[in-house]
Amino acid sequence: MATGIPKAKGQASAKSAKSDSAPGPSINIKLSYEGKASELAILNTPPASLVRDASVGQSGDAPNRLYFGENLAVLAALALDPAVRGQVRVVYIDPPYATKSVFQSRQQADAYSDLLEGAHYIEFLRARLILLRELLADDGSIYVHLDDNMAFHAKAIMDEVFGRSNFRNWITRKKCNPKNYTRKTFGNVSDYILFYTKTSEYVWHRPVEEWTAQRAGKEYQYTDDKTGRLFKKVPIHAPGVRNGETGKPWRGMMPPPGKHWQYKPSTLDEMDARGEIYWSPTGNPRRKIFLDESKGVPVQDIWLDFRDAHNQNIHITGYPTEKNPALLQQIICASSDEGDLVLDCFAGSGTTLEVAHQMDRRWIGIDNSPEAIRVMHQRFAQGLEPMGDFVNPKKSPTESDPDLFGSSEQEPDAVFSTKHTPITDFEMWKQAK
Ligand SMILES: C[S@@+](CC[C@H](N)C(=O)[O-])C[C@H]1O[C@@H](n2cnc3c(N)ncnc32)[C@H](O)[C@@H]1O
Repeated sequence: MATGIPKAKGQASAKSAKSDSAPGPSINIKLSYEGKASELAILNTPPASLVRDASVGQSGDAPNRLYFGENLAVLAALALDPAVRGQVRVVYIDPPYATKSVFQSRQQADAYSDLLEGAHYIEFLRARLILLRELLADDGSIYVHLDDNMAFHAKAIMDEVFGRSNFRNWITRKKCNPKNYTRKTFGNVSDYILFYTKTSEYVWHRPVEEWTAQRAGKEYQYTDDKTGRLFKKVPIHAPGVRNGETGKPWRGMMPPPGKHWQYKPSTLDEMDARGEIYWSPTGNPRRKIFLDESKGVPVQDIWLDFRDAHNQNIHITGYPTEKNPALLQQIICASSDEGDLVLDCFAGSGTTLEVAHQMDRRWIGIDNSPEAIRVMHQRFAQGLEPMGDFVNPKKSPTESDPDLFGSSEQEPDAVFSTKHTPITDFEMWKQAK
């Protein structure tokens, strides 16, 4: 694998400076379109006036809140609330995807429409992202779930709103099973989650997958003679020339050309004394990485185990585009701690909220669909129902997409706990008319 060497600021050599065609400060890229409001205008969005609905949830103060209303105005109201502004540790949103569809639930109830397109859609998203940024804690993270329709434009907008340097990952998720695809294209089984943080200092608990015997056996192929421990061999040098200790000879050996030792020679001596260096028959040193010291396989940016709930025979609410709770578990676990505040302003069936609740986080949910609010109340009270059926987006036959419907024959993916304890400790708020 060819690896570029990151160039630290001011490190450009005379040789590379000659070949650099565009030295100097970087120039920000901005997406330009008609109707793009100023940030200031968005930050001055009139806040929703909100009334408490005491007939649902907890009667007194509660740690969690569900809002029935237009999320832009509700977010503007939350931005004025010191208990929320700058306090949210994780935002996950799964907004409409500009599909030109009207979505119904499994029970044929109208759930929501997704009719905004192009610049109107992007401006809709951008306005919410700007307000969400105000709500995020300095060490907070935001995950935006989209498909290939608008993810590219959203990436450019998120670079503007959060800063290019705060982009962390473009996660590809396998959303459904392979299909009997009739179009002249590759099957479309993926969607995307754009992960940004508010700053460079953010909460991060590296997710890992457990080793399976098969995977461990493939990767850790060597056995330590003395201890019997399984290990793999990795280089002890890294790309780039260094003038300090790590660029000096160790045991009479220089690092390979264009490289440096990963550790100072004195540290390498200590590692060797502890039996952590493997010497090849030709005298080349490699570092031993032991299986029993590995917490698991670090999760990468392709997620294969979180197909949509209604693509499998698992417990669901039947709300359209309902996400897999285990997907939310992975996100919330990676980017927050117990007691932290999690927010989803496109809450839908309440997947984010229920998972946050079960993981002992506080939560705020917003949705403007009466059906979403009804489904969330039912989910909070009674939990999910076992079923393996699909939802039905209302589309004209020409627009209808066979691709949306997968088979439910496969084994279920990662499953989050289906054990249900009724959720009652929330406040219900409504946007006043
Ligand atoms: C894709 S669904 C979210 C599904 C959710 N992730 C789940 O697991 O059930 C998008 C949701 O956003 C809501 N929504 C769309 N526009 C909204 C707006 N302007 N204000 C509040 N909610 C909105 C819709 O009613 C819908 O429930």
